[in-house]
Amino acid sequence: MRIVRAKDYEDMSRKAGDIIAAQVITKPDCVLGLATGSTPIGAYKRLVEGYEAGDLDFSQVKTYNLDEYRGLPGDHDQSYRYFMNTNLFDHVNIDKANTHVPDGLAEDYEAACAAYDEAVAAAGNQDLQLLGIGNNGHIGFNEPGDAFVRGTHCVDLTESTIQANSRLFDSIDDVPRQAFTMGIGTIMAARTILVMANGEVKAQAVHDMIYGPITPACQASILQLHPNVVLVADEAALSLC
Ligand code: GLP
Repeated sequence: MRIVRAKDYEDMSRKAGDIIAAQVITKPDCVLGLATGSTPIGAYKRLVEGYEAGDLDFSQVKTYNLDEYRGLPGDHDQSYRYFMNTNLFDHVNIDKANTHVPDGLAEDYEAACAAYDEAVAAAGNQDLQLLGIGNNGHIGFNEPGDAFVRGTHCVDLTESTIQANSRLFDSIDDVPRQAFTMGIGTIMAARTILVMANGEVKAQAVHDMIYGPITPACQASILQLHPNVVLVADEAALSLC
């Protein structure tokens, strides 16, 4: 795992955004695995600026997002589809038909999850997979547990995740209790994985991801087995390393 130290959120966003930009420039028809959350917002802004400056062309890029809340439609302002549209897709020349987020309303969700994995594989897998990390070491919505789950699946969110994500909802009761997420196998199929982390609240998870035992109790620890991971993190997130 290569560690890129950033001073603060701005610096992390610039450095990570430039890595994604380099991917788009060097392979204009690349497949990007994308993430939501507060962490990547600044990096997406950097990509929008790159597009506006005429440096980035998204017309041939395909994207597959990590996860989506179960039960939220794509136009709900807390859905991850809405997040992606408003933070990135609406501001660059990407073809929305080439952007994919798990369907939060899928009724036959097992079939939908299997189809999602097949679509990622049929696209040739992710050239670059962007990841944030949960306070509890989750990646996507793969929560701490006793196994690594291979494919896209439905998860019960842990209390700590519901609590952490409630800051974005009107009330904690509005936070969905379940989500669909790419599995660990889907994530690990990416040729490059770019992890972003900022803030002291992530310090323990970042430490355990890099130096802890490889265990499903810290799902991000599996990244130790991937040959091409870059972590861009600020000083606070690296404070225990
Ligand atoms: C969320 C998302 C993850 C994200 C993580 C951290 O619940 N499912 O994909 O990486 O938790 O979020 P944040 O960047 O807001 O700290």
